[in-house]
Amino acid sequence: FESGVLAGVSVVITAGPTREAIDPVRYITNHSSGKMGYALAEAARDAGARVTLISGPVTLQPPERVKLVRVNSALDMLQAAESELEHCEIFIASAAVADYRPATVAEQKMKKSGDEMSIELVKNPDIVATVAAHTPHPFTVGFAAETQDVEHYARGKLASKNLDMIVANDVSRKDIGFNSDNNAATVYWPEGQQTFDTMNKHLLARELVAILASRFSAN
Ligand code: PMT
Repeated sequence: FESGVLAGVSVVITAGPTREAIDPVRYITNHSSGKMGYALAEAARDAGARVTLISGPVTLQPPERVKLVRVNSALDMLQAAESELEHCEIFIASAAVADYRPATVAEQKMKKSGDEMSIELVKNPDIVATVAAHTPHPFTVGFAAETQDVEHYARGKLASKNLDMIVANDVSRKDIGFNSDNNAATVYWPEGQQTFDTMNKHLLARELVAILASRFSAN
């Protein structure tokens, strides 16, 4: 991207997994490493943006000159996102938010007993859809982690979550997506799409920032 394409623009990015507690020592999570979201934070910063990175638990170094807000659960991430909205012009949801959380969190460590046990789960709020439902709302970019019919499901999420853009990646492949250094993606917006073949997440992040900056300024 050209330098300064996001000069002075406030960008909020979610990254990493969420952790949904079962009891004081156990949780449900997923394989997101945060690499995609952290790379986006650095690319947006390098494009001149003021960046807030809302991060689930990851082991990455915090990027320099980026405001880092650490969270654990989806509910924490939603609260952090909503409290950043007043100053947010672009919202990018790259986090792999748990769709469900345990209905109750046991106060004490759960004891081993029968041969089977089950945990009741309840749906988490959808963070990016909640952001996009605000009036006014920021230019909102989602991700779509798919394993089949990528365009169909990605365009479905673009419409149902009221997003301005969605970045679809195939998470059935071992060489890209979750926890890999590389990714490939197709970006969809209402009137178009663009495909990026496999490359390092830092390079892809710069491509994504270029395209979202041009869609943002056309808006
Ligand atoms: O972190 P890495 O290891 O680098 O891996 C990157 C990635 C594969 C996690 C990333 O590129 C990616 O695809 N992120 C989105 C993962 C996901 O949860 O996708 P989804 O299709 O289930 O969700 C669609 C969109 O809704 C996403 O923007 C997601 O952040 C958002 N969402 C989902 C559920 C929820 N409760 N709240 C949300 O905001």
